[in-house]
Amino acid sequence: MAATDLERISNAEPEPRSLSLGGHVGFDSLPDQLVSKSVTQGFSFNILCVGETGIGKSTLMNTLFNTTFETEEASHHEESVRLRPQTYDLQESNVHLKLTIVDAVGFGDQINKDDSYRPIVDYIDAQFENYLQEELKIRRSLFDYHDTRIHVCLYFITPTGHSLKSLDLVTMKKLDSKVNIIPIIAKADTISKSELHKFKIKIMGELVSNGVQIYQFPTDDEAVAEINAVMNAHLPFAVVGSTEEVKVGNKLVRARQYPWGVVQVENENHCDFVKLREMLIRVNMEDLREQTHSRHYELYRRCKLEEMGFQDSDGDSQPFSLQETYEAKRKEFLSELQRKEEEMRQMFVNKVKETELELKEKERELHEKFEHLKRIHQEEKRKVEEKRRELEEETNAFNCRKAAMEALQSQALHATSQQPLRKDKDKKKAGGWSSIYSVTIP
Ligand code: GTP
Ligand code: MG
Repeated sequence: MAATDLERISNAEPEPRSLSLGGHVGFDSLPDQLVSKSVTQGFSFNILCVGETGIGKSTLMNTLFNTTFETEEASHHEESVRLRPQTYDLQESNVHLKLTIVDAVGFGDQINKDDSYRPIVDYIDAQFENYLQEELKIRRSLFDYHDTRIHVCLYFITPTGHSLKSLDLVTMKKLDSKVNIIPIIAKADTISKSELHKFKIKIMGELVSNGVQIYQFPTDDEAVAEINAVMNAHLPFAVVGSTEEVKVGNKLVRARQYPWGVVQVENENHCDFVKLREMLIRVNMEDLREQTHSRHYELYRRCKLEEMGFQDSDGDSQPFSLQETYEAKRKEFLSELQRKEEEMRQMFVNKVKETELELKEKERELHEKFEHLKRIHQEEKRKVEEKRRELEEETNAFNCRKAAMEALQSQALHATSQQPLRKDKDKKKAGGWSSIYSVTIP
């Protein structure tokens, strides 16, 4: 036998043995203890209402819980869809319910509806993320943590009698893996009975053909299997909401009064309001909470942890070890960090080299420019020198000529000043012969 097989056998848990008790011990009170603990702790339930502005979301919530919640009418001019959560503490008998109603304000009001689903998806994810962060804390306090994860999305369909809008299909498709969707036809009193029947069939056909998964009331619990199976066939519920009370016979009932008659909210022949209330609150509220935790949150958690690098080991012998995965991930992270550091260092060296080369090239260019300018300067200097020499020669020649001229001039002057005297002398000596002088100036 291989060593691993032996290991597996020795690690296998022994089958528990059945023993009979000699008398009453008391652990049969465990369910009661659980009930008592849950009642003390209270419950939370979070409903997301998605539907066009004015479709009747607030009215239906008021009708469902038989109270008046704070509501604010939305305008049709919201730039984008915005989620507005409001939390209330409700009490029925001794059971406390922390109810959060989240309104998708401005849904369907934008000209471009491509991204209408995104704020809704982001909101749902943000609640999952908050819960995951609480779970991952070293000191967690899940016991008194206010769980804001959305347990159900009531999707309000406009009673057109035609078919679903593409906005409805896209939004429901984006939400179906994140939340339990219960589609409802709003303002069902505005559509005739035969049209409503056809509309319901068409909606279900479209949801199936587009692969939209809506919430199915569970049929695995015998106590509610039958009623849930019947109710699944009634989906989507066609509802009417009203908080107005009208006298029918000698009873005051919630209804909508028209000139031609009265639509009673709680009359099953008039609409599916009672069915919705039964399924949502009285029969399946706990299943909706559980599905949210075990299916939708689990999927979110798995994807998130896988994204962070955690994975279950594939071999059947090795169980998942958080510490080992963490160590492996840490090593991977450190080597990645080192690689990045080395890459950055190399990049820096290359950059420095590049800059050095660029600088050298610039220096060479400058040097060449300097040499060129120097040559030009020398040439200019030589020319100036030549000119100066020429000028000097010219000046010298001029000075020579000037000197000669001056000499001649003085000679001539001298000669002319001597002439009358000699004439007198000659006249006296020779009896008056004259001499002729010619002066040539070079
Ligand atoms: P916003 O929050 O502003 O988006 O509106 P809403 O979806 O909450 O609608 P609201 O409940 O404020 O109802 C809008 C109008 O529709 C009101 O005049 C209601 O009386 C009316 N209304 C609500 N429910 C029904 C219904 O079932 N049938 C009919 N015919 N009218 C309804
Ligand atoms: Mg409203």
